[in-house]
This record gives sequence, structure tokens and C-alpha cells, in this order.
Amino acid sequence: MTLNTLSAPSNLLDAMNYSLQAGGKRIRPLLLFATLSAFNKNPKLGLPVATAIEMIHTYSLIHDDLPSMDNDDLRRGKPTNHKVYGEALAILAGDALLTYSFQLLAELNDSAITDMIKLKLIQQLAIAAGPEGMVGGQVADMEGENKSLTIHELEYIHERKTGKLLEYSIIAGALLSEATEEQLKILREFSRHLGLAFQIRDDILDIEGTVEEIGKPVGSDITNRKSTYPSVLTLDGAKEKLNYHITRGKELLHEANIQHNYLEQICDLIALRNN
Ligand code: IPE
Ligand code: IPE
Ligand code: MG
Ligand code: MG
Ligand code: MG
Repeated sequence: MTLNTLSAPSNLLDAMNYSLQAGGKRIRPLLLFATLSAFNKNPKLGLPVATAIEMIHTYSLIHDDLPSMDNDDLRRGKPTNHKVYGEALAILAGDALLTYSFQLLAELNDSAITDMIKLKLIQQLAIAAGPEGMVGGQVADMEGENKSLTIHELEYIHERKTGKLLEYSIIAGALLSEATEEQLKILREFSRHLGLAFQIRDDILDIEGTVEEIGKPVGSDITNRKSTYPSVLTLDGAKEKLNYHITRGKELLHEANIQHNYLEQICDLIALRNN
């Protein structure tokens, strides 16, 4: 997708496009499409929502890398947004991606999506990305620097800073598919395990990964004195926890009464990923 049709300053659009087009795994869109497939829906139905999620995710990365936050210079294999455009424009490009994502959802115009579903999609995204979700998790993560956290405190952080947006990707697919309350409940629990597993793998890759593979600096958590799963549980303990969450997640998938094979494959992708 391109943002170039927007009537906005060209340097702002350049900064927004720079990080959006830098790539990334697109795991959140993949989860949304796999969830739609699980309900025998056409994945295309989720395209605008997937775009909105990826914009919010990209904004969170731009801000996460800022000197006042993790102070990282490399993202998705390229210099971070603030390194190219300066801090002020990087902050504003993040703000613009966040705001525009909600505009995209509000302007959804598809006869297969009722106004009620549209409203739910917007509300759930706000919850996932806001103070009770990703932003709250980032604050807790920041406050946990230089402290030794318990596993419960760490779970709180990981569930929010990373888990909530991954959860939304699945719940949005389920909402678009008119899933039952029971299915939504199981899929939320599945997403919790998947989100924890995803961030545990991220913490492990911060130690074991290579810059070439992960496209971001290795050792950022150690430099920033973060509590992570490996720092609290040891590297082996973190790997064990990762396996536990993947196994439990898969069990839940089998209980949801859906075509679970794509979602199950994504579980393995998350457990084994090197990027
Ligand atoms: C990185 O997310 C930040 C976390 C939430 C762990 P991803 O690993 O999904 O980053 P991209 O989108 O592939 O760059
Ligand atoms: C940040 O977690 C998650 C968000 C951006 C919300 P990290 O700080 O561990 O992510 P990376 O390792 O920089 O991608
Ligand atoms: Mg961070
Ligand atoms: Mg970071
Ligand atoms: Mg990390």
C-alpha cells in the first residue's frame, strides 16, 4: 500500500513510508489472515485491518528505538527512523501512523462488515494499543530497567507490550468471522500463550541472534539493563517456557472448533524463528 495519495507534508509521508516499507515479518497480518481462513472466510476481508495493525506496530517500533527509549540504530536491517529523519520527525511519523490507522478503520466500507463489527474492531484496537495494552506494557518495561523483576512482573510486561497487538490480530479475524463467544474466549487464551512465546523468542534472539538475521542490534536488552526471560530464568529456562506456551497454545487451538492448521503452523514459525 502507499500513503502517497494523502494530502500531507512530503517529508512526513517519506518518514512514514520508510519504516513501513522496510519490511518486517508481517506476522500480525499473517495471524489475521490465518484466523479468517480458520473460519473459512476470504483473507482479503482482513486487508484494511491488517494494514492498520501493521501501521500501529511500525509506529511502536519507531518510538521504541528512539534515544529516550531503547536507543537503537538499526531496525529491519536499515538505520532507524530517527537516524534518517531526526528525532522530531520520527516521533511525528509514529504519531501519524497511529492516528491514520484509526482513520483507515473508521473509513472501512465493505458490505460484509456491519457497523457493529466495525465499532468493535476500532474499540478493541484502541484497547490493545493503548494504556491497558501496548503503551502500558512499554511503560512497565521502561520502569523495569535496572531492576530484577519476578516472572509474574515480566509476564505482565510481555503480555502487554507485545502480546496485546498479536492478540488483536487474531481477535480481529474472529470478529470479522462472527465467531461465537466461546470461540473468542478460547482464541484470547490461545493468543496470550502465542504472545508470550513471541516475546520470549525475541528476548532469546537478543542474545543468540545475529544482526544479519534479526535486522536489529544484538544485546540491546543487556545494554539497557532490561529484565527479560533469559535474565530471569536463564537461557535454558526461557527456552523451556517458550515450549510450554507453544504447546499450551496448540492444545487450545484444537479446542476452538476451527480449521486450525495455518494457525498451528504459525505457532511453529514463532517457536523456531531466527529473525
Ligand atoms: C518486534 O516485532 C518487536 C516486538 C514486539 C517483539 P517483530 O519481530 O514482529 O518485528 P518486525 O515487524 O518483524 O520487524
Ligand atoms: C518492544 O519490545 C515491543 C514494542 C515495540 C511495543 P523490544 O524493545 O524487545 O522490541 P525490539 O527487540 O526492539 O524489536
Ligand atoms: Mg523496548
Ligand atoms: Mg527495543
Ligand atoms: Mg527485543
